[in-house]
Amino acid sequence: MSDPVALEALLTEDRRFAPPEGFASRAFVADPAIYDEAEDFEEFWARWAEKLHWFRRWDRVLEWTPPYAKWFVGGRLNVCYNCVDRHLDGPGKDRTALIWEGETGERRELTYRDLGAEAGRFANVLKDLGVRKGDRVAIYMPMIPETVYAMLACARIGAVHSVVFGGFSPDSLADRINDARAEVLITADGGYRRGRVVPLKRNADEAVQRCPSIRHVVVVARGGLDLHRDFTMVQGRDHWYHELASRVSDRCPPEEMDAEDLLYILYTSGTTGKPKGVVHTTGGYLTQVHATTRTVFDLRDDDVYWCTADVGWVTGHSYIVYGPLSAGATVVIYEGAPDWPDKGRFWKICEDLGVTIFYTAPTAIRAFMQWGDRWPGAYDLGRLRLLGTVGEPINPEAWMWYHRVIGGARCPIVDTWWQTETGAIMITPLPGVTHTRPGSACRAFPGIQAALLSEAGDPVDAGYLAITRPWPSMLRTIYGDDERYRETYWSKWDGVYFPGDGAKRDDDGYLWILGRVDDVLNVAGHRIGTMEVESALVEHSAVAEAAVVGKAHPVKGQAIAAFVTLMQGMDGSDALADELRAHVARAIGPIARPEDILFTADLPKTRSGKIMRRLLGDIAAGRALGDTTTLADPAVVQELKEGYEAREE
Ligand code: PRX
Repeated sequence: MSDPVALEALLTEDRRFAPPEGFASRAFVADPAIYDEAEDFEEFWARWAEKLHWFRRWDRVLEWTPPYAKWFVGGRLNVCYNCVDRHLDGPGKDRTALIWEGETGERRELTYRDLGAEAGRFANVLKDLGVRKGDRVAIYMPMIPETVYAMLACARIGAVHSVVFGGFSPDSLADRINDARAEVLITADGGYRRGRVVPLKRNADEAVQRCPSIRHVVVVARGGLDLHRDFTMVQGRDHWYHELASRVSDRCPPEEMDAEDLLYILYTSGTTGKPKGVVHTTGGYLTQVHATTRTVFDLRDDDVYWCTADVGWVTGHSYIVYGPLSAGATVVIYEGAPDWPDKGRFWKICEDLGVTIFYTAPTAIRAFMQWGDRWPGAYDLGRLRLLGTVGEPINPEAWMWYHRVIGGARCPIVDTWWQTETGAIMITPLPGVTHTRPGSACRAFPGIQAALLSEAGDPVDAGYLAITRPWPSMLRTIYGDDERYRETYWSKWDGVYFPGDGAKRDDDGYLWILGRVDDVLNVAGHRIGTMEVESALVEHSAVAEAAVVGKAHPVKGQAIAAFVTLMQGMDGSDALADELRAHVARAIGPIARPEDILFTADLPKTRSGKIMRRLLGDIAAGRALGDTTTLADPAVVQELKEGYEAREE
């Protein structure tokens, strides 16, 4: 959980911000009665589902056999049809769907009609390669429009996509492909990040060597990368997308999918070394991402909406692709880093494209704060009317800075709590209704029921966050592992979902999320399991044992601290520490690179041999040591603490 200092700051935070007058009077939701109306939650969600296009209406809204839910039972629909075709009948067809900006400055704009043609074309390419309904397709791409076409194409033909973040290593990609037994991999020659080319196809080649299920690799030419094609195209297996695309039509009939057919799998870190394939289905997922996009972001036809997440994370799935497109929005997609070529890049994009709704993560906000007000100050941010944040708790100072400097003190801020598993926003202000408090995600979205419970399941004012009834976009299982699904999320209390976060409630009844209570870290808004990093470390031949904990970091929220015991005869030098950092980055991806590595002869263990991570967390945070009485050898931890502190001086 968060450190005590941050907690203290939250407890004394009592500023409140009413929805700005001009905003509230025009807001999509302006009446707090929506919360009461949603008490009949099945009815509430059914009204939202009715706003989508169904080939066949559902027979029953919900079938709940805990912990398994079916939503809109018997209904048939297609997600791509809802995100594109549905808008083509009216004035929406010529509305801009995507505005893409590459890191190197190029720009592409597509109308909904263009997007429909591109998704149709990609769908026919996949069909020609033999992809059928239910087949799994892995997507390992940069942030370019083709990534969106690929996702929509899968949805159109009923294939299940598994998008793997382009920053993941070949090993991480291979593990995910193998777990899903994907048959086709869609990648690109490369993409740009901070002025450098990320060699996606080269990584993909390395991964695919270990992936017997892959029959075809489709390679999109990012454009402008002709000098970076240092890979070979394997005959029969690898295909340039533009060559395949030139041979097919751009019209492809949408598959009529059952509401409970799989839409996608998305891997996320848990408390074991093996990432979990979170399964999302069709009807309920689309209903909730659509409802929350409309109401939480107050989306209107003339908005220019920009969510800065990468499409490789759930935020990109739900709030770059499926939510906004199902609502007919104009969506900005940017390929690269916020500080390239300088630290004003995001604000330049906001000014150039007239962004009105901006959704980002606290880690980015803290970095902007650190870079200084002069960067946003140099651009006209006057069109912004709503700001959002997601991914980790936002500290009140960062919230206030966002409000004042980016929002010009006139934009409501929606602090949205949700997870890969929840699929869509669960706890959030409604911008036309809620008085916000800096640092609080406020209250459960209408129709959602959240509680704070003790270990025993009793209601408390500070404890575990719990979701006490099913919701449409909930994960349905972990791919291929029902038991892990039941065990991870549903075994703490009967029929109640356990998200793994701690939270408290204030006098207004608002919820304050305090962070993870399990062995999952949140580094710069990315979930990383301590076990994954530990497994990567012990794979190195010099390492005997490793324990990983999070430590507070001013920008990233948390950083990784690793305590490492070496094999006999190995020397814990700075060079070896650097090598281990690089090893972890290669094994998982650069986001998992440990910040601190401390070599130690021993790790603090209980008498039964369990590593006491809590004590390591105390050491990394520079806190007084907690209870050490259960340790096999209390001297170990004292020595470690002294070693760690000596290192920091
Ligand atoms: O700890 C919570 C934190 O991020 C976790 C979910 O991570 P992930 O599945 O990667 O999804 C991130 C984007 C939806 C949660 O268990 N978290 C997410 N949003 C917030 C948050 N913590 C506090 N406040 C939030 N708004």
